[in-house]
Amino acid sequence: MIKDFSKPQLIEIPNCKDERGDLFFFEINKILDFDVKRVYFITNIPQENQIRGNHAHKNLKQFMVAVGGEIEIALDDGENKFKFDLKSADFGLYVPNGLWRDVKFKDKNASLFVFASDIYQKDDYIEDYQEFLRLSGV
Ligand code: TYD
Repeated sequence: MIKDFSKPQLIEIPNCKDERGDLFFFEINKILDFDVKRVYFITNIPQENQIRGNHAHKNLKQFMVAVGGEIEIALDDGENKFKFDLKSADFGLYVPNGLWRDVKFKDKNASLFVFASDIYQKDDYIEDYQEFLRLSGV
């Protein structure tokens, strides 16, 4: 259970694993501090070490789950950098708003599922790193 929602952190996803495979499940309001208004997923990655992201969100909060391979998420609040390796669905990554992110797909077969606090809004993106630093006040 998350105690401090201001920080990025791994959250364990409950599961039921047996000889038929691994089933993962969570109820939104048991592990997250937001309602999920949008789900998107990134798959069919063309090559190992493909990078995506390179932006921050002003207000959007996200919960990221990797399946099928390893995904490295690098986060930056303007002052501190964090790195998380998502290797399975056993843990998802809670990403509060206001963090610059680089997402590296270490495996071609990895897919990233993202549960987001809001609908897609272009003006919530910060795509220039200097602008991000300026808005972060550092
Ligand atoms: P983008 O967020 O830039 O992807 P990434 O951060 O993984 O590189 O989105 C790529 C394109 O997809 C962009 O043109 C906007 C569009 N898009 C939507 O229309 N709706 C969505 O929910 C998302 C996530 C992206």
